[in-house]
Amino acid sequence: VKGGYPTFMDKEIHDQPMAVADTLRGRLDRDGRLVLDEMRISEAVLRSVDKIVVVACGTAAYAGHVAKYAIEHWCRIPVEVELAHEFRYRDPVVSEKTLVVAISQSGETMDTIMAIRHAREQGAKVLAIVNTFGSTIARESDAVLYTHAGPEVAVASTKAFLAQVTACYLLGLYLSELRGNKYVDEVADYLEELGKLPEKIQHILDEQEEHVREVARSMAEATSVLFLGRHVGYPVAMEGALKLKELAYIHAEGFAAGELKHGPIALIEPGQPVFVVVPTPRRHTLHSKVVSNIQEVRARGARTLVIAEEGDEDVTAHADVVFRVPRTPTLMMPLVTVVPLQIFASELAAAKGLDVDQPRNLAKSVTVE
Ligand code: M6R
Repeated sequence: VKGGYPTFMDKEIHDQPMAVADTLRGRLDRDGRLVLDEMRISEAVLRSVDKIVVVACGTAAYAGHVAKYAIEHWCRIPVEVELAHEFRYRDPVVSEKTLVVAISQSGETMDTIMAIRHAREQGAKVLAIVNTFGSTIARESDAVLYTHAGPEVAVASTKAFLAQVTACYLLGLYLSELRGNKYVDEVADYLEELGKLPEKIQHILDEQEEHVREVARSMAEATSVLFLGRHVGYPVAMEGALKLKELAYIHAEGFAAGELKHGPIALIEPGQPVFVVVPTPRRHTLHSKVVSNIQEVRARGARTLVIAEEGDEDVTAHADVVFRVPRTPTLMMPLVTVVPLQIFASELAAAKGLDVDQPRNLAKSVTVE
């Protein structure tokens, strides 16, 4: 059942190229155009949407954060991302023009179920991005865009996250096209780029996995690890930190790199491990700011573990360790940059002798509020 891997999580990390490919499959026609047959919310309603609110928990919420960057950029619709449990109990502003997007692997997370019930009571339409066919969230939503990651057994979410992010891109491109495609020059180009992602993820598994595992084993004694990222790298940083908390029971925190100087830099002392998710060098301003962040933490003694695009040599002088990912359009970088962080958490937990698939105190799906 584990496909020859020591843990379900390792198998599921290796399933990721397929999870992305399967989530794309059937949604592109022969000419590479986007078709979302399952979109049961009418085009008229989708055209009138003036706000999107993503509700989700944990890793699924980080997929929502990535969606915000992509959908706002492509569609110019404001997107809010809210933890489902906070949304439900704070009198949120929702109307008939709000599209609530509920993201969930299991489709049974009670916090998210309560959030969509509340949203529908207020007249909002709910679109579910769900991995489990026929689950409660799927049944109680107006439409479902299924992720096709296959069953995810390990408590830590990996392939479901990549599939959720992929589905969010499809939704963003679909809405952009539907609403007149004013902001995306070439939806087809983006779709083509998405189609290349499974191969790129496989490339990371082939080329970087051993390197990441070796570094993780050397860090089994770490007691605190920080993660920095900007733009779509910010949710990736938070996801990297969450993986490490839940699997290796290490204090970990993800920050927006720009926030460093507003407080967190005080945490840096000699030897502090800091992961930095670096944007592509093609985004000059962001890239150079993040490279400066690496220098700043290193000058204070941090051990810098950098995730950077192949060919990005600006990072090499300031990094103790570099993990390489293939060149990818900026908005789609989470699909590659998160992979080394998943492998790292899994290996570190294994090196500490912990149960990678069943971390303490956690359940695969949280069916209570
Ligand atoms: O089934 P869901 O996607 O609704 O679950 C949401 C979270 O409970 C889940 O992502 C959790 O954070 C994972 N254990 C993270 O690895």
